[in-house]
Amino acid sequence: MTQQSDTTPGSVGQAYDVFTDVGATAALGGNIHVGYWDDDQDVPMTEATDHLTDLVAGHLALRPDQELLDVGCGNGVPALRIAGAHGVRVTGITVSRQQLTQASELANGSDARGRASFLFADAMNLPFDDGSFDGAWAIESLLHMPDQAAALAEIHRVVRPGGRLVIADLCQREPFTGDGRTLLDGMLHMYEIAGINTPDEHRARLAEAGWRLLELSDIGERVRASYGHASAAFRELAASLDAPAAEQITAAADLMEAFGKHPHTGYVLITAQRS
Ligand SMILES: C[S@@+](CC[C@H](N)C(=O)[O-])C[C@H]1O[C@@H](n2cnc3c(N)ncnc32)[C@H](O)[C@@H]1O
Repeated sequence: MTQQSDTTPGSVGQAYDVFTDVGATAALGGNIHVGYWDDDQDVPMTEATDHLTDLVAGHLALRPDQELLDVGCGNGVPALRIAGAHGVRVTGITVSRQQLTQASELANGSDARGRASFLFADAMNLPFDDGSFDGAWAIESLLHMPDQAAALAEIHRVVRPGGRLVIADLCQREPFTGDGRTLLDGMLHMYEIAGINTPDEHRARLAEAGWRLLELSDIGERVRASYGHASAAFRELAASLDAPAAEQITAAADLMEAFGKHPHTGYVLITAQRS
């Protein structure tokens, strides 16, 4: 894994506080993850991002009243969608205070009120007893964690035997080199990413933490359009911001667009089971 050593939960949380403050979450339509398109590319980004959430839920083998953990819950949109659709209870954790406020407010106004709760916590040191959850998911959060092995071991500890973990995350299909490596380093720095695994690194980390891999697929081509949509939304947002924020968000948009076009940019959907 290409590691950005100065990324910490504190720096990630601060970045998401600013991201939320300038309206970038709203610009993405609520979810802070890629969209998934079947064959119809005309589906709008917001719908496509919900589609990705539904794919994650579909791999969790959910049953009503189960307790689920959302590792890196953003502003709570995926947790509320899954709690509402499947009648499960969800605890979401984030390292951003702004996201926590937003998620709690959204939960109050949602049909899933009472089925979802949110707290400020670090996935590498979870404040839950052993076996507290029936399953867990992590959408685009592991990549921010400087010690993914610790996070996977912690999730393993708090999920009951037989429970599932579904991960949706970026991957390097092959290691980026040359100009690609410069692009990747720019992404890590700009987006407070600790590292992006290859599929083999994902497999190895899960195995080390005691997870049994059920399925890993690279759905990169189904999500690739997201980078163009997100960078366009960021450029539109930049037009409404003052100069320093606009410059920053335009630079973030440029990087994202280039990263989305790179052939080594992939995206994994992983289902694992607690042994
Ligand atoms: C790209 S956002 C994804 C949010 C949400 N999963 C979604 O799909 O909308 C990354 C999330 O990971 C969370 N995160 C990053 N590092 C974390 C850590 N060490 N512990 C808990 N959450 C973390 C961030 O706070 C943020 O909510």
